[in-house]
Amino acid sequence: MELIEWKAEYSVGHPELDKQHQGLVKLINMLTRETASGGMIAYIFDELDHYVKEHFRFEEKLLRQADFDDFNAHKAQHRVFEQWLRAVRQSFSVGGLSAPLLAESVNAYLRGWLINHILKSDMEYKTLLSNAR
Ligand SMILES: [Fe+2]
Repeated sequence: MELIEWKAEYSVGHPELDKQHQGLVKLINMLTRETASGGMIAYIFDELDHYVKEHFRFEEKLLRQADFDDFNAHKAQHRVFEQWLRAVRQSFSVGGLSAPLLAESVNAYLRGWLINHILKSDMEYKTLLSNAR
């Protein structure tokens, strides 16, 4: 898989949200560039936990305040990500998959999330949040 370079068109028009999204791209690149180990997977999971707690909550707060039309559907997508994270963490903790296979699977999921959520669903609030600021 190729490294991902952040592009201006990935911006949702909110500096803090962009910074958080860039953090996810960094994790994808780490998974792509580095040889997977148990320690690296544990680090990635901790960062993703943090992403879920800080970023989703923050984004949801902004969307609620701005009265975003698709708020519930958007929030539901975040919950799906959280369920995936719980499931994949569990399969790691029971030793179901080796670190390289797990890294590949997490990498693929995060790339799908970037394309289907950040570059699609998140873009739907870009104008609304830009006008609210
Ligand atoms: Fe989102």
